[in-house]
Amino acid sequence: MLKSCFVYASGFLSFVILIVGISLALSNVFPHVVQSEAEKEIVLQNGTVAFDAWEDPPAPIYMQFYFFNLTNPLEVLDGDRPAVVEIGPYTYREYRPMEEVSFNGNGTKVAAVNTKTYIFQLNMSRGPESDLIRTVNIPAMTVMKRFKDHSFLANLISSYMRVKKEGLFTTHTVGELLWGYQDALLQALHVFQPDVDPVFGLFSKSNASDDGQYVFSTGLQNYTDFARVETWNGQSSLNWWTTDDCNMINGTNGASFHPVITKNEKLYMFSSDLCRSLYAVYEEDVTVKGIPGYRFSPPSEVFANKTVNPVNAGFCVPSDNCLGSGVLNVSVCKQGAPVIMSSPHFYQGDERFVRSVFGMRPNKEDHQTVVDIHPLTGTILQAAKRLQINIYVEKIPTFNQTGNVNTVIFPIVYMNESVVIDDASVEELAAVVFKQNVVTNIPFMLIGVAILLGAVFMLLVCRQKIPESTAAERQPLLAS
Ligand SMILES: *[C@@H]1O[C@H](CO)[C@@H](O)[C@H](O)[C@H]1NC(C)=O
Ligand SMILES: *[C@@H]1O[C@H](CO)[C@@H](O)[C@H](O)[C@H]1NC(C)=O
Ligand SMILES: *[C@@H]1O[C@H](CO)[C@@H](O)[C@H](O)[C@H]1NC(C)=O
Ligand SMILES: *[C@@H]1O[C@H](CO)[C@@H](O)[C@H](O)[C@H]1NC(C)=O
Ligand SMILES: *[C@@H]1O[C@H](CO)[C@@H](O)[C@H](O)[C@H]1NC(C)=O
Ligand SMILES: *[C@@H]1O[C@H](CO)[C@@H](O)[C@H](O)[C@H]1NC(C)=O
Ligand SMILES: *[C@@H]1O[C@H](CO)[C@@H](O)[C@H](O)[C@H]1NC(C)=O
Ligand SMILES: *[C@@H]1O[C@H](CO)[C@@H](O)[C@H](O)[C@H]1NC(C)=O
Repeated sequence: MLKSCFVYASGFLSFVILIVGISLALSNVFPHVVQSEAEKEIVLQNGTVAFDAWEDPPAPIYMQFYFFNLTNPLEVLDGDRPAVVEIGPYTYREYRPMEEVSFNGNGTKVAAVNTKTYIFQLNMSRGPESDLIRTVNIPAMTVMKRFKDHSFLANLISSYMRVKKEGLFTTHTVGELLWGYQDALLQALHVFQPDVDPVFGLFSKSNASDDGQYVFSTGLQNYTDFARVETWNGQSSLNWWTTDDCNMINGTNGASFHPVITKNEKLYMFSSDLCRSLYAVYEEDVTVKGIPGYRFSPPSEVFANKTVNPVNAGFCVPSDNCLGSGVLNVSVCKQGAPVIMSSPHFYQGDERFVRSVFGMRPNKEDHQTVVDIHPLTGTILQAAKRLQINIYVEKIPTFNQTGNVNTVIFPIVYMNESVVIDDASVEELAAVVFKQNVVTNIPFMLIGVAILLGAVFMLLVCRQKIPESTAAERQPLLAS
């Protein structure tokens, strides 16, 4: 009797466990518990792991520069297509701690500056910083453009350039082009206009300095606001572009993302080097050092021309002056220098930009911007931000230095700023992933246990030689 009691109890129990297991699995309650825990834990608060990683990113960040060395300057002045050779990488270790960190009263916002320091890594570079690169004379192009309609001054400057042997193209070292050199023409202008900086460099004054104060949301009120840029230099939007949509500061600074990332969301980020916000969308599942993640990257619509993406009309400056897909005139945010930003080798850009410079070979693997994210915690597993700096070169009749040059968006250098998660963080994440797997699999474990118990029940029932034994034993059971 005791035995049959046990038999039926096990049968009942297996049934109950099965129901509980299935309903837990269907209701998704365990994944939700794990997610809401992550939403609560991942906030910018002094002492949290998320704050430490945001304040001083533990993984090494590398900034690599690939220059384009011009091989046919004389032919270009005669109207030929420029031919360039990609030379690089020149690699710098980048340190980018948040400094002057201060929270507001209730801990919903945090202000900070992001100081970046670059240290040259010869062992990860093609050559020393003293390698010579022949490229566009950017200060000269800027000055010529600025004075092109003042015929008297243009004449004066043009003669001065002839004396100083300054032309449309120039040769400088990698270190000078990046971090700055005294330019003869700028020095002369500086005498008349003290606000003209006599030093020119693509990243002059960027080392060991910051791009202004940011105020971030801490994510305390809403996890989707984690590390979102609220204001930059005191402004909550930009004023360089011609529509409010394009002037919006959206998302984080691209170095942190909110927890519980889903495959169908747009991840917005604001980039001060690009002078605009953009977004990335889910592309594929990836695994980095054993940790599963989602790969996000900016779709081609982000940089498309206004025919394809009408919202982008606001990036045409001056109004209605659209250059085409994949290029952005950032002159307004680079002190008037004729700088055009694009993806490396005009990846995702209009075919005519690729064709107008010999040596452009866009490919997805090397030139796409990607960020691989662990979806539960929002941790960056791997990322590569890729941008190219170009100069708008055109013939300026008042300066014979420009010869018969054809109008071209001339590539100067492209950057690959990349990071791969460090091993200590991998270990921490692996523990999170393990815990997540265990907890989310509890319903399935229950179902497994139910099936096992059910099997035991069947086995016992069969061994009791149904139906006589059951009928015989049921009576006393019911009577009692
Ligand atoms: C965080 O806490 C530590 C120790 O309590 C303190 O020294 C530090 O100033 C705090 N940081 C901020 C940004 O409040
Ligand atoms: C940047 O500044 C740091 C120290 O402030 C210095 O060690 C480093 O060499 C500088 N990097 C470059 C590229 O000038
Ligand atoms: C390059 O040299 C630095 C020290 O200057 C070292 O920390 C780093 O591991 C080296 N990297 C490679 C790839 O050898
Ligand atoms: C770039 O081209 C110039 C001119 O041809 C040449 O002198 C220089 O060595 C080249 N730079 C590199 C790094 O090969
Ligand atoms: C958090 O913000 C998102 C997007 O702005 C919004 O959809 C959601 O309702 C907010 N959640 C809470 C709890 O306020
Ligand atoms: C900013 O986000 C809004 C939607 O929230 C969008 O309409 C706008 O186009 C975005 N702007 C940029 C520059 O990404
Ligand atoms: C880029 O923008 C500046 C400032 O609005 C403008 O002067 C310049 O003509 C533009 N360049 C091109 C190639 O459209
Ligand atoms: C915009 O881009 C599309 C696709 O690349 C192209 O077919 C179209 O001609 C472009 N329009 C303009 C105005 O450049």
